[in-house]
Amino acid sequence: MRDLGPVSLSDIDLSDLAFWARPIAERDEAFRVLRRQRPVAFFEERQTFLNSAINVPKGRGYYAVTRHPDVVWVSKHPDIYSSAQGIFVQDFPPVFLEFIGSMINMDDPRHARLRRIVSAAFSPRVMGDLEEAMHVEVDRLIDAVVDRGECEFVADIAAPLPLAIICRMMGIPDEERQFVFDRANVLIGGGDPEYIAEGVDAGVAVLTAAQELAELTERTAASRRQDPRPDVTTALINANVDGEALTQAELSSFFILLVVAGSETTRHAITHGLLALTERPQAAAAWRADFDRLSRTAVEEIIRWASPAMAMRRTVTEPTTLGDQRLEPGDKVVMYYNSANRDEEVFADPFEFDLARDPNPHLGFGGPGPHFCLGAHLARREIAVTFRHLLARLPDIRAVGQPEQLRSGTVNGVKRLRAEFTPGGEPR
Ligand code: HEM
Repeated sequence: MRDLGPVSLSDIDLSDLAFWARPIAERDEAFRVLRRQRPVAFFEERQTFLNSAINVPKGRGYYAVTRHPDVVWVSKHPDIYSSAQGIFVQDFPPVFLEFIGSMINMDDPRHARLRRIVSAAFSPRVMGDLEEAMHVEVDRLIDAVVDRGECEFVADIAAPLPLAIICRMMGIPDEERQFVFDRANVLIGGGDPEYIAEGVDAGVAVLTAAQELAELTERTAASRRQDPRPDVTTALINANVDGEALTQAELSSFFILLVVAGSETTRHAITHGLLALTERPQAAAAWRADFDRLSRTAVEEIIRWASPAMAMRRTVTEPTTLGDQRLEPGDKVVMYYNSANRDEEVFADPFEFDLARDPNPHLGFGGPGPHFCLGAHLARREIAVTFRHLLARLPDIRAVGQPEQLRSGTVNGVKRLRAEFTPGGEPR
């Protein structure tokens, strides 16, 4: 890791958006200080645009959990560390939490019921079909740029695949993809003015985007009731063997959750993967030379390295202690996966990108527990398929210039990144 000189504890404020605009190496250094000096550190909340937009006062503050074992502990004890008040720092009203976040904002037994039903969307048969679609889709995306010798990697390659796969999974028609893509950017980009029309309040824009996605799900479900198809929407609205099915509202919220949880994270993992490989041409060459052998560990390392979902909140339900910190009911705790994934007590050389790292107990998909990422297998396949085709067809692809970072304390995002390669590439 680059030596950035001393960072003192008092200089670190995770609630300040300016902190998240700093280069990743500087943020990493701050988290290293937190892990060493104050692994459960209290930060005051700041008023954000979301507080004003949906009229919720800012809370007192939260404890940032930065060491790997502590993040594992919190994830494993949902009875003490609840998800029901939401996974963002702000206290959104319950209706909002359910509408936008579905089961990610719930505790068992409600969470378990929903997770049981929607697991139909991730069955081996569905995954097999989707993998075939991934190969076709990635080839199509590469075809579109191959002769140019350059592309805007995020918009041309990394972003379309995960969203296309989610749409396909739910049976959303291809012609609606752009519609979904635009709304997804508003939901995910949150406060980023780039995605919100001038003069429109950010909170209103987020709710409108969610509402429009819900309406699209309603239209799709209505058509499947008339004309059932072998897709996930049909499976989720029809009762399964145990007589369980999703209501229309639950289906809409599930789709919104997939769009938010599944498209953005995977897109950033792929983009950070390209950045890491560009800085290490030998690693890229090694993976290309022996793709299958390295694929499993390489994908896990990309997820550890990228940590696309950086933070998830829990709320304390009973008096407890985490590390040396006493916690009371109602206290907010935010787990920082990016920090846990660089914990030097757990990972040898955590600041090295090592495609063969094994074991790799990263927490990029969340800690062990009821909310562990439902789409982890899907995301792994998407990342593997993308790099399989990229390394084979555009063997000298590399990022050029600086990535444009998303300013967010929860998502380690890249908004734009230019890439270059020899025009024409290798034949398929
Ligand atoms: C590299 C890509 C991905 C990353 C880094 C990631 C990360 C995460 C994390 C950290 C959680 C845990 C939330 C918590 O504990 O509160 C989570 C949950 C979840 N993820 Fe992912 N995710 C990825 C891809 C996907 C994909 C592709 C999908 C689906 C299309 C998906 C769907 C979900 C769902 C539905 C949950 C909620 C599970 C529950 O509450 O039981 N994710 N994800």
